[in-house]
Amino acid sequence: MPKHDDVHFEMYSPQTQAKHEILASYLPAYLSALKNKVDRFHYIDGFAGRGTYGQGKPGSPLVALQKIDEAKVCDRTSISLVEKRESYFQELKSCVEGHALVSGLLNSPLIRQGKFSEHFPEILNREVYGSGARVATFAFIDPCGIEDVRMADLISLLKIEYCELLLFFNYDAVNRIGGSIAAGTMDMGILSELYGSESSIESLVSELKTAGAPSDREGIIRDTFIRSLKRGSGARFSVPFRFSAKRQDRTSHYLVHVCNNPLGFKIMKSVMWEVGRDDAEEYGRLEFDSDPERGQLLLFRPDIENQKKSILDRLRRSACKVSEFSVNWMNSPNDYFSEQAYKKMLLDLEKENRLAVFDKENQKPAPTSSRRKMKGKPTLGNDYWLRLSNS
Ligand SMILES: C[S@@+](CC[C@H](N)C(=O)[O-])C[C@H]1O[C@@H](n2cnc3c(N)ncnc32)[C@H](O)[C@@H]1O
Repeated sequence: MPKHDDVHFEMYSPQTQAKHEILASYLPAYLSALKNKVDRFHYIDGFAGRGTYGQGKPGSPLVALQKIDEAKVCDRTSISLVEKRESYFQELKSCVEGHALVSGLLNSPLIRQGKFSEHFPEILNREVYGSGARVATFAFIDPCGIEDVRMADLISLLKIEYCELLLFFNYDAVNRIGGSIAAGTMDMGILSELYGSESSIESLVSELKTAGAPSDREGIIRDTFIRSLKRGSGARFSVPFRFSAKRQDRTSHYLVHVCNNPLGFKIMKSVMWEVGRDDAEEYGRLEFDSDPERGQLLLFRPDIENQKKSILDRLRRSACKVSEFSVNWMNSPNDYFSEQAYKKMLLDLEKENRLAVFDKENQKPAPTSSRRKMKGKPTLGNDYWLRLSNS
């Protein structure tokens, strides 16, 4: 029987596709935003895989390499890849080293076989960080399970200036192992590495005992982890993108982005909301549903409706500019709505006649007919004013 990993690499599942889409859409924006601020880039793929999927689809290292080339920063970029399984490592090494773009990189790629944690010190000591260069590090940590994902390593990464982390967090595994620890059938070892200490697992397990609904349990597991990561590293921003399990309406993983830069936060939210959008609706979401048939049931959006209410509550206090929501609210580290989602909520509220748009001086009404259109649809610039509708 094929091993789980073999199936993973043969299938190129919609989940993997969504993960790659997020990586491929975010990297160009990240590279171009930092191009003039830093001297060099370092792309780290800690659980790099075998380089390609069945049908010749590129794996994450090749996706990244392509985007690095398109951003024209190859000659300022180092890449470091680790893969544990010998046969995958050999495939990875040959497809990366044989890739036409590799010779244009700043230096030879570091490709290691073994555990990420074993090679981590070498990666952090790479010459790319030498001679006081300003280096933007992007780390993609994409394990199958949770083994060898250590809070201490993630914190060390995020403490590097300009570092951003994209981590595939296996919620399902943490939930299961947390249950076994609570039942006394498993020790804390593997989870304490992930969460940083035994004491954090003790408090996690005791908090889980008091959790009511499964969604509370999920929130505790996810938020405790992200909070520790942010507290330890000083990173201010995080976005969790949820993956549900196939054929079951429960969470399997989160793809978590962590950074210390409001621009990265803003761009990643836009990218993730867009990847979570399907044809049936316009907003998108921070979620990828592996079962497209279930999507039809999710058209009602309590998250959007609640946020629209908060917008109207704000306008009840006073008129304000569009940017109050699309910039100020959107930039708040605890806010998971994208700039585009805010604009769409405001346009919907205008259409529903619950708010009115005024010109940039807040003098005259600026109905949709007077504003710029894009693909036939009205737009809403940040400098327009908003007032609660009279009707
Ligand atoms: C989900 S796959 C990675 C896929 C790859 N990032 C991509 O998107 O193309 C996870 C990989 O991590 C490897 N792996 C497992 N444990 C590891 C460890 N401790 N260190 C490095 N790699 C590991 C597995 O063999 C597997 O190939």
